[in-house]
Amino acid sequence: MDAGPVAWQHQALSPFGRPREMTTLPPRASLASQAASALACVDVDRKLDLVARVDHAVRCGELAVTTDFLPAAPDTPGRPVRPQLVSPGALERRSLATAIGHAALIHAVAHIEFNAINLALDAVCRFPGLPADFYTDWLGVGVEEARHFSLLREHLRGLDSDYGEFPAHDGLWQMALKTAHDPMARMALVPRVLEARGLDASPGIIRRLRANGDRAGADIVEIILREEVGHVAIGTRWFNHLCAERGLAPEATFERLLREYDAPRPVLPLNVEARRQACFTPGELDLMTAMALSRSQPRTT
Ligand SMILES: [Fe+2]
Ligand SMILES: [Fe+2]
Repeated sequence: MDAGPVAWQHQALSPFGRPREMTTLPPRASLASQAASALACVDVDRKLDLVARVDHAVRCGELAVTTDFLPAAPDTPGRPVRPQLVSPGALERRSLATAIGHAALIHAVAHIEFNAINLALDAVCRFPGLPADFYTDWLGVGVEEARHFSLLREHLRGLDSDYGEFPAHDGLWQMALKTAHDPMARMALVPRVLEARGLDASPGIIRRLRANGDRAGADIVEIILREEVGHVAIGTRWFNHLCAERGLAPEATFERLLREYDAPRPVLPLNVEARRQACFTPGELDLMTAMALSRSQPRTT
């Protein structure tokens, strides 16, 4: 029976309590197809809206979590024309003591969160054949990333700036492309390397913002840090699941993938407590420390 377009029964709230418009989903939509639409969306506000709507539809049972879909993720994610993307080395380093440096730091973190929305959506629609929880886990991550981005963009606007006003780099998406063929590599390299680096960096950012008198900005980064532990833990959960399915030892496989994908090395000090909460093993923490200590030395592999 074709029930026709699914009418939304409520007005979902944006992170700041503004009601969103009532809307409809296409008939027979699946989570993968809707996540792909949100991923391809270039308009920032519409992307945020789509993430909230897809999440609500899944929670209400109005949108099917199919696991046998055709991979639908575009290679180029939807993003606005601005910020201009440049190589990491081309980004200007500015002092946090200046208004422009302060806004640039918040913008840089907001850009990471915007990319993280796309990365979570990509996980939802790129890798068929996994348990349903995989897709709902990553949709939940996408919802939290959308909130992180919204909080930072609002804060940036309070600093007389906005998302798109500074150049930014595209490093996060490059790793998404390198791991697009294998969910095990994706789980190892994106949540367990790139997002885990955020766990290490956040305490220093929080301290710098507080020292600069930006208590609200520091509070936002604290919220983000707490929730990012959950994202890395989800990465660990599914990395271990995929290793078990393939009869692989997780620690040795993680180390091999770090080498094979030329993973960026962590920066000391590690946030050991957060990484432990995200299910890094003692052996992996030792490996991370050794990699961080070798940052100044040339690679031998
Ligand atoms: Fe985030
Ligand atoms: Fe995250």
